[in-house]
Amino acid sequence: MQFHALGASAVRARTACAVVGIHEQGELTGAAVAIDERAKGAITRIVKRGDFRAKLGEVLALHDLPGCPAERVLLVGLGSRKTFGRKAYRKAVAAATQWLAASGAADAVSFLAQDPVPEVDAYYAARYLVETASSTLYRIPDLKSGKKPAAPKLGKLGIAVADSAQLETARRGLGDGVGVAAGMALMRDLANLPANVCTPSHLAAAARKLAGEHKSVRARALDEREIRKLKMGSFLSVTAGSDEPARLIVMEYRGGKAGDAPVALVGKGITFDTGGISLKDPPGMDEMKFDMSGAASVFGAIKALATIGARINVVGVIPACENMPSGRATKPGDIVTSMSGKTIEVLNTDAEGRLVLCDAITYARRFKPKAVIDIATLTGACVIALGSHYCGLFSSDDALAHALEEASKRADDRAWRMPVAEEYAEQLKSNFADFANIGGREAGAVTAACFLWKFTDGLRWAHLDIAGTANLTGPSKASTGRPVPLLVDFLLNEA
Ligand code: BES
Ligand code: MN
Ligand code: ZN
Repeated sequence: MQFHALGASAVRARTACAVVGIHEQGELTGAAVAIDERAKGAITRIVKRGDFRAKLGEVLALHDLPGCPAERVLLVGLGSRKTFGRKAYRKAVAAATQWLAASGAADAVSFLAQDPVPEVDAYYAARYLVETASSTLYRIPDLKSGKKPAAPKLGKLGIAVADSAQLETARRGLGDGVGVAAGMALMRDLANLPANVCTPSHLAAAARKLAGEHKSVRARALDEREIRKLKMGSFLSVTAGSDEPARLIVMEYRGGKAGDAPVALVGKGITFDTGGISLKDPPGMDEMKFDMSGAASVFGAIKALATIGARINVVGVIPACENMPSGRATKPGDIVTSMSGKTIEVLNTDAEGRLVLCDAITYARRFKPKAVIDIATLTGACVIALGSHYCGLFSSDDALAHALEEASKRADDRAWRMPVAEEYAEQLKSNFADFANIGGREAGAVTAACFLWKFTDGLRWAHLDIAGTANLTGPSKASTGRPVPLLVDFLLNEA
């Protein structure tokens, strides 16, 4: 899909479909007013007759309106003006895209942000348009046999701004949006794959592929022999029960100056989590193929930055393995030595994410990063605490936490700050080792974060627990592409 921005003259442009917004009570916005005037009140009459109530996301297509250069005019309900804002705007864009994709229109122009959208400037109006339209059009790489549905005809989408002075800003939003959308699609493609396809070696190949597509990206993958040489005893204890070989994947994006310290993104890459010897209950276990979503989001963020050409250095570190039970698997009570030298009593083999991440965080130190952000589907407790709307944000650095929180608001990919504190860390006491890998029933998302915190001395570190937000469950089970928008927004701001 191609995206472009148009100025004040957009209403006179030829297009297969002009997409215009109407608020409840028949308030026409932007170009709708001019189109209605030229068509001698055709739109106003439809509203008066009660055939279009402008409920948020409602659509009605009009064809060949007199005096209108567009073949079609798609009326899109924006709901009440009082509650209009970024969420409503995105819902309206999604509804319009859905209709366009099913139509015969090959191109369209959106006038939905021509009147100011509360909380959304021209940059984000354009960026959300691209992200929302691309997300709506995204299809899971399905492994179903039989005929594939035809691809939508829609190939070009424009955004009309109110004032030509906003054109440059809108174009920047479109460009960044295209990057974010590409990153989200890559994350979703990887995370939606089944675990028998998306193995640690598959992820390693995906990293090499990404490096092949972008000159600014370099990738390598360490095998188990090299991981053993690094003394990653904690990471290795998780893969011990699996026949599928582990990989430590390292990707470097170089868009900044050669000497600039990178931001390190560390992504949990458990390609399947059975729980190991502390085996999980069968219902819903298939969803543990999404346990590499943190890793997938690192791929997504780097894809986005490379597409945009962002002036920043980023290094992605991904410990990738399966968590399986077997005769060689780690047992509850086993004590392992992490790369940092700290020892860990593995009381529950299902708390494996923190075991792979602590070694990856230690490894990331060699890049002298200016910040380390780990991203992980780490705890069911985080899903209980925050559900599927906000991810958990944990950090021992207030400035970093604040920057991530602000990015999460701007990107409309929300994160909620949770505590990191010594009182919780005490729950990780072990009689036999430096730490236990679980901290009891209370505050499970916090004790998991505190476990990682203990490996971040001297680092500016933050942790995103995305267990609730990375994928939908139930009938719409699929990867969401989150938190790629949040990560990219934060990184563009750092650049
Ligand atoms: N991958 C899971 C966390 C998870 C649970 C993600 C549900 C998405 C949905 C993680 O490895 C895990 O099993 N965590 C345990 C930790 C516990 C044993 C302390 C959990 O949350 O139950
Ligand atoms: Mn687990
Ligand atoms: Zn897990």
